[in-house]
Parts: sequence; structure tokens; C-alpha cells
Amino acid sequence: MRAVPLIAVALAAGVVVGVLNTARSHQPPASSPDLAAAPAAVPDTPYGVGKAPFAHRASTSCSASACHGAGAVGKVGSEHSTWAREAVPAETSDPHAKAYSVLFNPVSVQMGKALGIKEPHKDARCLACHAVDSAKEPETRDQILSEGVGCGGCHGPADKWIAEHTLPSWQTRSNQSKWTEFGFVPTKNLVARTLNCATCHVGDGERDMNHDFIAAGHPRLAFESARFHFQPDYRKHWTEKGDARSFEVRLWVIGQAVTLRAAANLLHARATRAEKNDKDTPWPEFSGFSCYACHQKIGDPAIRGSACETKRPAGMPGWEVWSNTAVDIAARSCGLAFPGLSSPKLLEVEKLRTLMESKRSPAPATVAKQAKNAMAELDRWLAELQAAEDRGASSVSPDAPRVIANRLATNALSKDGKKLADHDWDALAANYLGAAAMYHADGGANAAKTWSEPLLRVRDSLRFPPVKAGVFNSPADLDQKKLNLIRDNFEFLRTRTGLPEGK
Ligand code: HEC
Ligand code: HEC
Ligand code: HEC
Ligand code: HEC
Repeated sequence: MRAVPLIAVALAAGVVVGVLNTARSHQPPASSPDLAAAPAAVPDTPYGVGKAPFAHRASTSCSASACHGAGAVGKVGSEHSTWAREAVPAETSDPHAKAYSVLFNPVSVQMGKALGIKEPHKDARCLACHAVDSAKEPETRDQILSEGVGCGGCHGPADKWIAEHTLPSWQTRSNQSKWTEFGFVPTKNLVARTLNCATCHVGDGERDMNHDFIAAGHPRLAFESARFHFQPDYRKHWTEKGDARSFEVRLWVIGQAVTLRAAANLLHARATRAEKNDKDTPWPEFSGFSCYACHQKIGDPAIRGSACETKRPAGMPGWEVWSNTAVDIAARSCGLAFPGLSSPKLLEVEKLRTLMESKRSPAPATVAKQAKNAMAELDRWLAELQAAEDRGASSVSPDAPRVIANRLATNALSKDGKKLADHDWDALAANYLGAAAMYHADGGANAAKTWSEPLLRVRDSLRFPPVKAGVFNSPADLDQKKLNLIRDNFEFLRTRTGLPEGK
């Protein structure tokens, strides 16, 4: 394992709201890509989204020693043992195996009280993401629920494929067919995989973690695919195949598209319910807007307006700044991640952003319509990325990570470089996390010599100040001086990731 300059900025609003955790490590890759054959034409939507109409099986159906329950933890054939906590002392473990049991913990109990939910572990709103809830027969249902996010949560309902996937004929099926005919999520395809992570880590029509939940104590959901894949305390039951550079660059690009697609989907679902005056759907829903636009120190006028050149009207919190900030860089860098692919134009996405940020509370019907358009646009892009993944694209060039990091640093700055482009903490963090993913993609070694110093400085300047009693953990110290420092650090990063002089 190589030395890593660790990323993500720890922050929790008070005791309760965790936004990001601290570090990430890197798992070295194994051998060559393992990709299925090319589909004929690229469809309008990627496969692997929505709900497969098949029944789930308990994770214990996978745990036979001849299947996924034997061997040393971390080795092929030991997936169930690696996932399950009991099998091994859990200094590191798979967080998904405890997803159900946390519904009994003090935070859940406190949330239950605040939200009027008597038993969170029985409430469909919580189970939607913390367990796999599908079986009708009560005993099977209880068994599957108690396993938390078990195998089916990520690999799809197994009823139809459990026998099939052990046969030689399975290997010759296309990923599309595995999903459509069997409900198997082809997790080797990064688009299908990440779309599935986002259903719980961002939300969807059936999974909604809103500001009421957050105010009651739920951690904020701030999904960033590259960071989530390398969280050091997540004991994964697989090793990524293929070269690390291509994997990380692609994971980041795909993650940007997927996260925003999931956010647009969630917005669409909320707007559709709000349009029908659903009493449980607050509108506008605060959790889609940047937290620290509202949760900030009052009385520091210098930050507003003058510190950056964002187009947002003063006083307007940004919509999904977390997932919008770097998506244009991901779109522009599409051909670097998948040589031969052209960049999509995200015009509908731009319209949605403008709509969400122009008026304090646009009509739900208008929002629902535009969210749908934006989602369709992102789906077309994702379908292209997915097809490229299935075809097996050629490796990304050694230069790609540095070039993308340079674009992200530039993205953080205003056109003239004198200000920040957007001083919202989420925007700064999104640019930083992207650059950090590129640092890892660069193998650390290349980058270490030239740009680890500015990257670490950016990271340190984005860390939250220590929490004082009774004060929420947040970027409370973002004043003009701090913002100038952050700007200087991004400028330093931009210079160091730029082409060497003379080129
Ligand atoms: C949209 C999906 C979603 C819904 C709905 C949801 N959660 Fe969560 N929850 C998550 C995810 C994802 C995490 C992990 C967050 C992270 O660290 O990024 C989490 C984390 C938590 C944690 C912290 C766990 C820990 O290990 O510290 C608690 C407690 C919790 N949820 C309780 C609840 C309760 C109670 C409900 C229902 C009132 C609920 N959740 C609804 C997705 C959801
Ligand atoms: C949080 C999502 C998630 C859960 C839960 C999950 N998996 Fe996985 N699994 C993945 C991903 C992502 C991969 C990597 C891509 C691949 O190899 O398909 C993977 C890979 C695998 C592989 C291939 C390993 C390899 O090295 O080729 C097997 C087998 C597997 N999982 C079985 C299981 C079993 C059994 C369970 C339940 C005990 C389980 N998974 C639970 C996401 C998950
Ligand atoms: C069915 C819902 C679901 C899916 C799908 C899912 N997760 Fe999770 N994930 C959760 C929940 C719930 C938690 C919180 C568990 C806890 O802390 O008890 C979690 C926790 C995590 C954590 C730890 C977060 C933290 O702050 O400690 C990581 C990392 C993570 N998931 C990554 C992934 C990745 C990568 C994928 C896709 C391959 C994925 N998850 C798919 C529900 C899901
Ligand atoms: C549009 C402004 C706005 C946005 C955006 C916003 N909040 Fe809030 N938040 C409020 C207000 C007002 C309250 C107090 C009323 C309430 O609890 O809903 C609050 C309450 C809270 C509380 C409870 C505070 C307490 O003292 O109990 C937490 C925690 C919180 N917000 C976190 C967040 C996070 C995390 C985000 C981003 C995902 C966010 N908020 C986005 C306005 C906002």
C-alpha cells in the first residue's frame, strides 16, 4: 500500500451530522480488465437502474463454503465471510453488514423520537436504505432484513440468477441480459455498479433521506464514488481488476455523472409528490441545497458577493453544489477517461441549475419537468459510458490524472484567477476531492514529487475548525482571510499541475 495524503475533510454538524470522514487508502489492482462483449447500439438509458421484478434471497444462501463462505478473508470465495462482521474481528469491516443493527442505536432512537417514528428498525423509510426489504413471507423477510445491506442489496435479487450464475453459460451472457432477464446487477461495469450505490447513498423515488432526518440526527449523505471506494475502514470483498490509473479516472468521471443523475432523480420524485401536496414532502426540500449557505456565521458581509464570482443571486443557496461543481469537468474530460468518447453537452442540467437557483421556490411541476429532462440527458451520457466500459476502452494516458487535476484547480478559481469561482464549501470540497482522486490515479509517485504539497495545503485549508461545545461542526471559520488562503492554495495546485515550462 502506498503512502497517501489523505483526503476528505472530516466534518459533522454537532455531534450528529457527519458529512465526510477522514481518510482513504488505496488498494492495489490485480491483472487485466474483465469486460463483457460489446452491445450493438447504445440505448438511451443505462441498464441496472430501477427495480428488478424478482425476489431476494437471504445472504446465507451465498455463504456455503463451496460458494462465497470459505477461504481467507479478502480472497476469492470468501466474499460472505469478508462481508460478515462475526467472521473476523472487526477493526475494519464492511459497514453494510451493520446497516440494520444501527437502526437500534442511540442516534436512531433519538431520530425516531424527533420524527415520531416509534421503531426505526420497522419503519419502511429507514429500511429502504438500511436493509433489503422485499420478501413477502414474514420469516424470510425478517431474516433478510436483519442482514442489513446484504448481497442482494448490491448484486440484485438472486431468485432467478442464483442457480444460473454458476453455469458456464452465464459467462457468455451480456451484462444487459444478466440485468434485464435475471435482475443481476453487473457490478463489474462501473456505471451499473455506481448507479446502484447511489440509490442508497444519494436516494431515489423510494429512498428519501431529507432535511428533517438530518435535523433529527442523520448524517448528511455526501456520496463521492472515488472516496467511498477507498474508505480505509471498508473491508471490501473484491479487488479491482485492470490498471489502477484507468480505474480511478473512470470511477471519478462516472461517479460525477451518477451522483448528479441520482440527485436529479430524487428531486424529480420530491417535486412530483409536492405537486400533489403530499403532506410528508416538505417543499422546497432543504437537503438538496448547499448546507453552509444557510448554516453559516451571520454578520460577515465580506464573504457574500465579493469573494467569488458565482452567478447565484445573493442569499440563494446553491442547488446540489456538491454534485454540480465538478460535473462539467467530468464531461469535458470524458475523452481522457474513455479514449474516443466525445464530451456530452449538459444543457438540460444547466437549465435545471438555473431554475433551482433563480427563484426561492420554483413551482414543483416546473421543477419535476426539468429534472426529468436533466435526468434523460445524464442517462444518455451514462449509457455511452456504460457501453464503453463493456467494450473495454484502452487505458487512460499517464498524463490524464494531472490534466484533470489541473482542470479542477482552474475550476475552483475565477476566470482572472483573482477570486474563487464559488466560495461555497461544497464547491471547494468537490474540486478538492476530484483532484485527490486524480492524485491517487497518478499513482502518488508521479504526483508526489510535483503536486502533493499544494494538494495537502488545499486539504488542510478545507478542514473544519475543532468543534466547541454546543457549536455545530461546520466551516465556521470561512472568513475573507481563510477564503484568500484557499484561493492561493488552489492557485498553487493549478500552477503545479500545469504543463512544465516550455511545453
Ligand atoms: C436514502 C437512504 C437512507 C435513508 C432513507 C435512511 N438512511 Fe440512514 N444512512 C444511510 C447511509 C448511506 C448512511 C451512511 C452515511 C455515510 O456515512 O455516508 C446512513 C447512516 C445512518 C446512521 C449512522 C450509522 C453509523 O454507523 O454511525 C444512522 C444512525 C442512520 N443512518 C439511521 C437512519 C434512520 C433511523 C433512518 C430512518 C428514519 C434512516 N437512517 C434513513 C442511508 C439512509
Ligand atoms: C455494497 C455493495 C455490495 C454488497 C453488499 C455485496 N457486494 Fe459483492 N461486490 C460488490 C462490488 C462493487 C464488487 C466488485 C465488482 C465485481 O467483481 O463484480 C463485488 C464483487 C463480488 C464478487 C466477485 C469477487 C471477485 O473478486 O471477482 C463476488 C463473488 C461477490 N461480490 C459476492 C458477494 C456476496 C456473496 C455478498 C454478500 C455476502 C456480496 N457480494 C455483497 C458490491 C457488493
Ligand atoms: C441498499 C443500500 C446501499 C447500497 C446499494 C450501498 N450502500 Fe453503502 N451504505 C449503506 C448504508 C445504510 C450505510 C451505513 C451503514 C452504517 O454505518 O451502519 C452504508 C455505508 C457505506 C460506507 C461507509 C460510510 C461511512 O461514512 O462510514 C461506504 C464507504 C459505502 N457504504 C460505500 C458503498 C459503495 C461503494 C456502494 C456501491 C458499490 C454502496 N455503498 C452501496 C447503504 C447502501
Ligand atoms: C435553506 C436553508 C437551509 C439549508 C440549505 C440547510 N438547512 Fe439545515 N436548517 C435550516 C433551518 C432553518 C433549521 C432549523 C429548523 C429545522 O430544524 O428544520 C435547520 C436545522 C438543521 C439542523 C438541526 C440543528 C439543531 O440545532 O438541531 C441540522 C443538523 C441541519 N440543519 C443540517 C443541515 C445540513 C447537513 C444541510 C445540507 C444537507 C442543511 N442543514 C441545509 C436551514 C437550512
